[in-house]
Amino acid sequence: MAQLWGGRFTKPTDKLVNEFNASIRFDRRLYKEDITGSIAHATMLGRQGIITEKECRQIVDGLRGILRDIENGTLEITDDYEDIHSFVEANLIDRIGDAGKKLHTGRSRNDQVALDMRMYIRGECDAVNAELKKFLCTLLDIMKDNTETYMPGFTHLQKAQPTTLAHYMGAYFEMFRRDRSRIADCRKRLNECPLGAGALAGTTYPLDREYTAKLLSFDCPTRNSMDSVSDRDYLIEFLSDLSLVMMHLSRLSEEIILWNSNEYQFVEIDDGFSTGSSIMPQKKNPDIAELVRGKTGRVYGHLFGLLTTMKGIPLAYDKDMQEDKEAAFDAIDTAVNCIILTNGMIKTITFNKDVMRKSAVRGFTNATDAADYLVSKGVPFRDAHGIIGKLVLYCIQNNKSIDDCSIEELKAVHPAFDTDVYDAISLKTCVNKRLTAGAPGPDAIRREIAECESYLA
Ligand code: ARG
Repeated sequence: MAQLWGGRFTKPTDKLVNEFNASIRFDRRLYKEDITGSIAHATMLGRQGIITEKECRQIVDGLRGILRDIENGTLEITDDYEDIHSFVEANLIDRIGDAGKKLHTGRSRNDQVALDMRMYIRGECDAVNAELKKFLCTLLDIMKDNTETYMPGFTHLQKAQPTTLAHYMGAYFEMFRRDRSRIADCRKRLNECPLGAGALAGTTYPLDREYTAKLLSFDCPTRNSMDSVSDRDYLIEFLSDLSLVMMHLSRLSEEIILWNSNEYQFVEIDDGFSTGSSIMPQKKNPDIAELVRGKTGRVYGHLFGLLTTMKGIPLAYDKDMQEDKEAAFDAIDTAVNCIILTNGMIKTITFNKDVMRKSAVRGFTNATDAADYLVSKGVPFRDAHGIIGKLVLYCIQNNKSIDDCSIEELKAVHPAFDTDVYDAISLKTCVNKRLTAGAPGPDAIRREIAECESYLA
């Protein structure tokens, strides 16, 4: 195995140690960040006169060539190197000779890998953010189309009060909007450049850290060099942001699984997003939603793994920190896939609006409104609550909804009932009367949708 070190060793490393120690199997995906970071470092070394202009040009051209060749497939990143940093440097020396040996002047793999990971995560913040935005557009489309699609809202998974599909989806819109703002926050905090921190204590070369930070689009250099090489907070922060994204996706998945069940039939998942059974011919299963729900545990696991890895590490860099990569990469891949798949599933789902409406009517979701009706006729709310409770019991015993009762039946329960009650407790009225900000009533939801629209624009 080609290594960047070895001078002080008298024996080759054990084969098993090489395999155990190497990270190229997974850190190869940092090749672009590594090369871009090295180009900035070399440019700065040249500008500061630490290497000659000619050497600087040779290094930068050599690195650009490596990047080009990796991307067009002519240069394969093989497992013969310890990590991506060794691969790039060894390749550079092969290509340009002695000048290549000067690239690592005033740098350590400790600040190098810290830089690579920050750049990578910065890009992933943007990628996750973009996928979430697409998903929010899907949710907003559903909201716009369904301001009058009535359905039951639940508490304790018991039908509670009527709402609309627009209002329901609006709740998820808010969750993913918060996720985006958390990720933007994380990106802002991580956008400081650790390059120039060296192994832990800076360097004796006159590096211009402001300059490399600027070249790599960071807001500023990091402050303390020890913290710079040992900080993985931004990764934990990002994984916790992704865990919240997954938690929200998982809750939505759970709703879709319930709604898609034979018992609810509120939705039908599109054939393109369902799977069948090998034995039961009638089955059409919500596997995608189940997998998203299941993979939530996987992302949480990576968050906890990394928290646990980091908790006992003395300053500054320790090799434990190499464990950050597989955890972060897998968590990111998983979360991004789950957002994309959920978006596809929700975009193509059919809402059985009639079933939803009937479910709201049959479930006494207008019982609160019936009590409010009595209040409007002068009955104190606590009494009205008890009267409607008795009415509901009567309806259950007679297998009907409140709306089905004749005026005589209603008056028998309380004389304040009149024929205007039917309109007062219709689904439409129940929703229309919910006018507080954030409620499903037409004005409120229109304002909410307009706000969501301008947020996405
Ligand atoms: N592969 C290493 C990592 O991911 C790179 C840094 C190596 N630094 C060191 N001092 N061995 O953390």
